[in-house]
Amino acid sequence: METTTETKRVAIVGATGYAGSELTGILAKHPGAQVVALFSSGSGVPAPANPAFPDLVAQPFAFDALLASNPDVVFLATPNEASAELAPKLIDRGLRVIDLSGAFRLNDPGLYPTWYGFAHERPALLDEAVYGLTEFCNGELKSARLIANPGCYPTSILLALRPLTYVIDREQPVICDSKSGVSGAGKKADIAWSFGELYGNFKAYGVGHHRHEPEIRQGLRLGDRTPLVFVPHLLPTLRGILSTIHVGFTRTVTASEIADNYARAFENSPFVRILPAGQLPELKNVVNTPRCEIGYTLLQGGRRAVIVSVIDNLLKGAASQAVQNFNRMCGFPETEGLA
Ligand SMILES: NC(=O)c1ccc[n+]([C@@H]2O[C@H](COP(=O)([O-])OP(=O)(O)OC[C@H]3O[C@@H](n4cnc5c(N)ncnc54)[C@H](OP(=O)(O)O)[C@@H]3O)[C@@H](O)[C@H]2O)c1
Repeated sequence: METTTETKRVAIVGATGYAGSELTGILAKHPGAQVVALFSSGSGVPAPANPAFPDLVAQPFAFDALLASNPDVVFLATPNEASAELAPKLIDRGLRVIDLSGAFRLNDPGLYPTWYGFAHERPALLDEAVYGLTEFCNGELKSARLIANPGCYPTSILLALRPLTYVIDREQPVICDSKSGVSGAGKKADIAWSFGELYGNFKAYGVGHHRHEPEIRQGLRLGDRTPLVFVPHLLPTLRGILSTIHVGFTRTVTASEIADNYARAFENSPFVRILPAGQLPELKNVVNTPRCEIGYTLLQGGRRAVIVSVIDNLLKGAASQAVQNFNRMCGFPETEGLA
């Protein structure tokens, strides 16, 4: 693949959030990126975005200050509504945008009022935005003006299931039982996400109405008929997602067929590791890394499988995947700044 050594000027809006702070840390050390501006919400005060880089101070957001920093690429690590408003304005000014929110992930604008609570002002951008599940993208990242970075739960689930869609039985429910560390919800103050409520506890939430459900359905091209059962849970830990996925197949499959399919799908994917049949990954394998690990066990003589997928929600589920996309967009090696 053609690569470049030219440095890109990057700005991050939402740099003081959980995902933005990780992004700041990665881009500060990225040999091809120069961090030219960092912003928090307009109501914030100047503060370091990442404690490891005290000189990289985020300023309260101001659109003119962002433009004045003259970035090549703007990362939006902001809430959905803020990204939906900001990304079109930046694109209209000729800037390239990598959005970590869900504001541009769904193709169908009609889904936004139901699942996100707002109507899209620029639905044409939903057609244009590249859904940046890096491992399943090709040249489209290179020419993209807008990349919609995938959600954390969908990343863990789609990496595990996309290579097997050809044999998944769409008459049976696809069941995705996912558990996330508390940083998945961002740094909001909410009693349900507080230490006192989480410590020594474990609970399901958002069943039937989590925003990642239509994203998973879209990513697996399930249409409206195949039942998708997505059950998110909150783990009493800070970071990491473990998804346990139950699928039925249209015919009997063997472990070597599954292994071959995964090997083909991820032969050029430095951040995905497939475990041997019967070995299942654990959170500690991937927390604080940009990697995804996937393991599977066949059941009922190969008519069903349980697949387990683990990622760090703040890295492969957000910041490091955004940098993978940045690397592909700008012509850097995919692992630049991440290996
Ligand atoms: N957390 C995850 O695991 C994860 C994974 C994948 C995707 N995401 C997505 O990434 C985005 C950021 O998530 P997060 O968890 O990092 O959230 P967070 O911790 O709540 O941080 C949000 C950031 O956005 C800033 N902000 C809020 N409103 C703003 C506005 N109107 N204009 C400019 N900046 C604004 C905040 O500034 P202040 O510091 O001043 O409040 C903060 O820096 C969200 O869309 C989220 O859905 C998160």
